[in-house]
Amino acid sequence: MCGIVGYVGREKVDTVLLNALSRLEYRGYDSAGIATLGSGTITILKESGKLSNLRKLVQEHPVSGQLGIGHTRWATHGEPNQKNAHPHADPEKKVALVHNGIIENHAELKVRLMEAGYVFQSDTDTEVLVKLIEKYHIKMGQTLEESVKQAIREIRGTYAFCVISALEPGKFIAARKGSPLVVGLGQGENFIASDAPALIDYTRDVIFLEDDQMVILTQDGVRVSTTSGREISPVVTRIDWDAKAASKEGFDHFMLKEIEEQPQVIERIYASRLAQGPNKSIFDVLNFDEKELIQTERLIIQACGTSWHAALTAKFLFENLAGIPTEVDVSSEFRYRGLLPQKNTQVLSITQSGETIDTLMGLRQGKEKGFKTLAVCNVLGSTIARESDGVIFTHAGPEIGVASTKAYTAQIGVLFALSLFWGKVRGRLSEARCSELKEEFRRLPEKMQTVIGRKELVRHTAQKFYEARDFLFLGRGINYPNAYEGALKIKEIAYIHATGHPAGEMKHGPIALIDEKMPVVCIVTESVVYEKMVSNIQEVRARKGRVIALASDGDEAIKAHAEEVLYVPKCDEALSPLLTVLPLQYLAYYVAVLRGTDVDQPRNLAKSVTVE
Ligand code: AGP
Repeated sequence: MCGIVGYVGREKVDTVLLNALSRLEYRGYDSAGIATLGSGTITILKESGKLSNLRKLVQEHPVSGQLGIGHTRWATHGEPNQKNAHPHADPEKKVALVHNGIIENHAELKVRLMEAGYVFQSDTDTEVLVKLIEKYHIKMGQTLEESVKQAIREIRGTYAFCVISALEPGKFIAARKGSPLVVGLGQGENFIASDAPALIDYTRDVIFLEDDQMVILTQDGVRVSTTSGREISPVVTRIDWDAKAASKEGFDHFMLKEIEEQPQVIERIYASRLAQGPNKSIFDVLNFDEKELIQTERLIIQACGTSWHAALTAKFLFENLAGIPTEVDVSSEFRYRGLLPQKNTQVLSITQSGETIDTLMGLRQGKEKGFKTLAVCNVLGSTIARESDGVIFTHAGPEIGVASTKAYTAQIGVLFALSLFWGKVRGRLSEARCSELKEEFRRLPEKMQTVIGRKELVRHTAQKFYEARDFLFLGRGINYPNAYEGALKIKEIAYIHATGHPAGEMKHGPIALIDEKMPVVCIVTESVVYEKMVSNIQEVRARKGRVIALASDGDEAIKAHAEEVLYVPKCDEALSPLLTVLPLQYLAYYVAVLRGTDVDQPRNLAKSVTVE
């Protein structure tokens, strides 16, 4: 999950590279570095830790030139120190390279190369790629392009890399397989980056490279081909959001900004997917006959992390509103299941980034078994979006905070719209019920804004509990996945151990954890299982657990069962997760701020998990 960038043009290269890298820090922040090519020599500056450390180093060692590459790292092989930081180069610094991915056969290649006399300076898998290019380009005199192709023929695994050569100034070459790479097209300048946010200060005309493609970039143009040499006429996409979308705009953290963008995101989903629908326009891409959707007999959803929680929520929507038997798997398990081909079955992938390697491998497994594949995704041009037969983009805008918030509610929003479409075309939803649910959805942004207006109450609750060593989160019915989500949020940004459970599971073991120090967040909004949920809360209280209840406006009775009550407006139960998740997001956020953790770039994590 590293971030890589490349630039050739007229601007001061270090300024462009550092700015582009700052837009990619969410992809990894263990170390950072740049390599620039000026007057025939390559200069490499790299530092462990965050990009700010590299920025300081560059200020102390000004570089020249208009061509270079850069990298911000999430360590896979080799400690996150200066030695293992990218870029990596040959001893004479004739070539330099940055890489995102894993070279799976690096060990055997390293042995062979060391036996041939090559000296390694790092513990990374990436360095074998440098040595192979050093061998073909410097030692054997092949062109940089030929050397890259030869090196690619010898490695196995995933990669997105950029390489520059002092022997061939004025250009850099990039290639990808399994890790994302986007080309940015400028006037007299061209760019490459792992993700589009790195490019939007300079251009919105981009080319999303596909697997087994490579590109040669010079100031005046780009040449795209397959890594086996076939020329490609690439599709140019215009990115539909601007630089403001990828900046904090006065908020303390991206996560807080993205929490508070959620009402507008849901508003956009209503306007684009439901106001005139629900109808076939739900899909941005649909490469198979709508009849197949109507005949769907079984749906398998696969996703990771927060997107898996959206999948668990969607199961309720698809089964209750559309009458489609739905099963849900985490992608890392789904991809190894002994799936049997079955007609009228679709595989739906849910993913913010569209690059999560486990979800991508699950998608490919589904395609191999002959299933039609659908995707709900937030990133235009991402690999999973491009490889799926049908796609619904969530259009939540770039989500920079590593902890997913607006992408999650956007996923649930479009999944809700899809369940209405499916329910209607399959005759499971009456016109009246469909209109009623549409109207409920239309009113959601205002209700979400109301919950946002109550955030100070959540901050007050956070102040009481931020030193807790553990948290439990409980929910029932369509709100039990949010119990998982609340636990994940507090784990990943506040570094507190937390677990989420369907409340009915407590008596099967977890209740042994309850004592007077244990905060238990209970989602107990208006619901068909409200009474059952109250009983579970009483079981917690009987054991002196400290209950924080998320309840519906007007529920006074719940106060007798809880130490703290956080209220959300009433709404149709099918949509309640879109309201109950807000206090959970704020709780994790304020607890993390009080604990002084790095909210937007929590330790050990990265925004998209593109390595297995
Ligand atoms: C959620 O806050 C985490 N960042 C993580 O669990 C994330 O949801 C997961 O890695 C899946 O990412 P994706 O949606 O981009 O596939």
